[in-house]
Amino acid sequence: MTNCQDRVAYTKGGDTLFACICAAATESEVRHCVRSGARSVEEIGDACGAGTGCGSCLNKLDGMLMTTSAPSELNGLSATA
Ligand code: FES
Repeated sequence: MTNCQDRVAYTKGGDTLFACICAAATESEVRHCVRSGARSVEEIGDACGAGTGCGSCLNKLDGMLMTTSAPSELNGLSATA
């Protein structure tokens, strides 16, 4: 029997098809949620349902939140050295 953790690891051509199997949410959908304003795993869940099932994808969602939101968050900072 396959659990969600195993299924999250399925990839195609090096790209993960789903960020969250329980919600059938793709990485692209999750990134869209973050770019649209989600700033926490809970807000991603509210937006697309990712992370609201078994919870095995929460670390992945958190990582995607950091890598997707960080550049835009840094855009507002001034560069001083
Ligand atoms: S894979 Fe189960 S909640 Fe995301």
